[in-house]
Amino acid sequence: TRVEFLDYEAVVDYGWSLDDDELFRKASHADLDPDAHGRLLVHPDESLLEAAERSGFAWPFSCRGGACANCAVYLAEGELSQPTDHIMPDDLAERGFRLSCNGYPLTDELSVVFNVKQRPELDDLIL
Ligand code: FES
Repeated sequence: TRVEFLDYEAVVDYGWSLDDDELFRKASHADLDPDAHGRLLVHPDESLLEAAERSGFAWPFSCRGGACANCAVYLAEGELSQPTDHIMPDDLAERGFRLSCNGYPLTDELSVVFNVKQRPELDDLIL
């Protein structure tokens, strides 16, 4: 699975919005650091977080077990699995929030914003 990623810090810095259809196009033109915007590959049986780490990126995480939401990402495109024993409430999952530590790609392409743990709606989930 090919993943295009974007750091939520850049979204905040530039005043962009997560539900902007043009978000990743804007990011492409913003000359961001390679660790803030770029692409990586997820191998079979690898979680999104594992793939990011193997690719040399330091994305946030803590428990690695679906219990804290520090590893949360926002899915702009594609689908990432969501195991049953996790902390993400249904309404946030419906809006596109996923956990990268135990999320496995279900589509060949993903666009994700990582580092969304600082979003206010995730505050209560961060341990
Ligand atoms: Fe805690 Fe993913 S690191 S839920």
